[in-house]
Amino acid sequence: MTHFLVTGASGLLGLNFSLAVDGKKHQVTGVDNRNPLRWINFKTLQANLIKPDVVERIIQEVKPDVILHCAANANVDDCETRPEDAEKVNGVLSGEIATAAKRYDVKMIHISTDAVFNGVTGNYTETDTPEPLSVYAKTKLHGEQAVLEANPNALVARVNFYGWSITGTRSLAEWFAYNLAEGKRVKGFTDILFCPMMVLDLVDTLIEAAEKDLKGIYHCVGAEAMSKYEFGVAIATQFGFDANLIDPASVHDGGLTASRSPNLTLSTEKLKTALGHPLPAFKDGLKKFHDQYRHGFPEMIKSLV
Ligand SMILES: NC(=O)c1ccc[n+]([C@@H]2O[C@H](COP(=O)([O-])OP(=O)(O)OC[C@H]3O[C@@H](n4cnc5c(N)ncnc54)[C@H](OP(=O)(O)O)[C@@H]3O)[C@@H](O)[C@H]2O)c1
Repeated sequence: MTHFLVTGASGLLGLNFSLAVDGKKHQVTGVDNRNPLRWINFKTLQANLIKPDVVERIIQEVKPDVILHCAANANVDDCETRPEDAEKVNGVLSGEIATAAKRYDVKMIHISTDAVFNGVTGNYTETDTPEPLSVYAKTKLHGEQAVLEANPNALVARVNFYGWSITGTRSLAEWFAYNLAEGKRVKGFTDILFCPMMVLDLVDTLIEAAEKDLKGIYHCVGAEAMSKYEFGVAIATQFGFDANLIDPASVHDGGLTASRSPNLTLSTEKLKTALGHPLPAFKDGLKKFHDQYRHGFPEMIKSLV
């Protein structure tokens, strides 16, 4: 049994990972901050990780085998308006955790993003040179660099995922599902391409990567590339909602603060070779997302704070 210390345990990835993994094959201690969790089966600690000495104290207390570092400011437009705070969490903190993990001989899995690329060509491999466009993406790249400099044995997973969250607002998939369920018209960007992975598929992939002790940068995104518009239509179709409520639109008409890279499709060849099998199919992940909806998972997860 591996003991995971999960930062960002109240976030979309951290919470879904902790709920899915704890008590099965592995054990989890989660760190939350401004959204303390309750009614959960795994252990939690509440801490602002950017305060001095907090990371080291938690590692000494928990004695984990693996740190899964999900805590971040993942709100792209918020990062754009508060760049110094974004750098503290996404950049500096990641390096501090990697340094402490090395000192205490703890494996680290660092969660990064597809957004480190400029999105001009797409299908990026791990050897392509990042060129982040937004403050969020720049600070996430600084985080990756700080992690690998301090701790070359860390795994840096560049991800893009969707699932249900405590606020109902943390993933594009939730936004489509909730709006379409209410019959509201929404825009779907036709000029942003990405490879979304259902969060439970990402959880399984990260567990497998930890078991295989993968090191260095890996692209851990979904098996299929699509536009955000096509993603919305796929959700509408799966859930039985009216796909005509989704208007094809350009990101330039979206009123967003930060620049978005147009083509964030990533090659996952390196990961598939390391795992020795293909990644889960998009349609199967989407079905899991819908099954959770039908079984009341979104309400359950919102009741945990
Ligand atoms: N969502 C995506 O599709 C996507 C795409 C690419 C990459 N990523 C990356 O995936 C990772 C997880 O993202 P997510 O969507 O799960 O994020 P999220 O839902 O926004 O959650 C962020 C988490 O970080 C915690 N946190 C932030 N600042 C903290 C601090 N100073 N001390 C302690 N905890 C702090 C938050 O705790 P409280 O809420 O309790 O304060 C929350 O649990 C991030 O590294 C993100 O950059 C996400």
